[in-house]
Amino acid sequence: MGLLWHHHLQALTGNIVKITLLPSQNFGQKLSPHKQPKINYNYTHLNGLSEQCSYQIAQSKHLNNADVIILCVKSYQVKQVLVSIAAKLNKSAMIILAHNGMGTLTDIDNSVLKQHAILALLTTHGCARSVPTHIIHTGSGNSDLGLLSGELSVSTIKNITQLLQQALPNVQWHKNIIEKQWLKLAVNCVINPLTALYNINNGDINSAQFVEIKTMLLNELVLVAKAEQYNFNTTELLTLVNQVATTTAKNCSSMRADILARRTTEIDYINGYIHRLGLKHDIATQKNTQLWQQIKQLEAN
Ligand code: PAF
Repeated sequence: MGLLWHHHLQALTGNIVKITLLPSQNFGQKLSPHKQPKINYNYTHLNGLSEQCSYQIAQSKHLNNADVIILCVKSYQVKQVLVSIAAKLNKSAMIILAHNGMGTLTDIDNSVLKQHAILALLTTHGCARSVPTHIIHTGSGNSDLGLLSGELSVSTIKNITQLLQQALPNVQWHKNIIEKQWLKLAVNCVINPLTALYNINNGDINSAQFVEIKTMLLNELVLVAKAEQYNFNTTELLTLVNQVATTTAKNCSSMRADILARRTTEIDYINGYIHRLGLKHDIATQKNTQLWQQIKQLEAN
């Protein structure tokens, strides 16, 4: 996702706006004060055409000067990555979180929350990485942007929304992004663990055998969301989940991809988040808890 946004922002702004990328393998390492060599990568567009491009690895001065940080890391990496870069950040930089799941805001250090506006960017664009230096834009989508914490002026909101919209449309600003996060969570708490456990494509969860479990998972989400003052309806959420499964029918979900590649998944911030809210509000979340544990087991294996 980081390379996808980098690619489109770079294509839009050329050299007018300086855009650099800090690959995840560089997190935690001392950032170089010196100019870094450019890294080549291949980008395959939606129409199948490919081009060779390059990105520049961020140096310490880029973090010092950046107005916007788009943090395209997994939910479980947010805390650690912010710890490693917070001290180097421009004091007025906004931080945009772009991950699946919910609950990362409580992981973030208070000093970071006090200093920076934190935004959420939710996207349905499909992107696959065949090798670290080749990404494929597999499906067009939409993105929702909004403020999670801190303050932003009206003109800053307008500028950042416009920039992202021009780079990779459609991007829409939402006053209540948390409501959108809940909708995305509903999609992820059904599609991700089921596709990972059964090793199936997204579209396969629309078969009759999954109707009951999908409804149970969403019923539990509706109850915990209500306890958090957000009102949803299971039937409407089920329609949404089924629609996303249909439009991404041939896709491999991110959680299934993580399991297949033996990586840690985002389950703690998806079904695990619903489990934690269940404990907090004394609400039974049997199915979400069960899937959370089953995926943890798969990860451990
Ligand atoms: O995590 C994912 O893979 C995606 O959020 C989604 C929507 C399930 C589509 O694959």
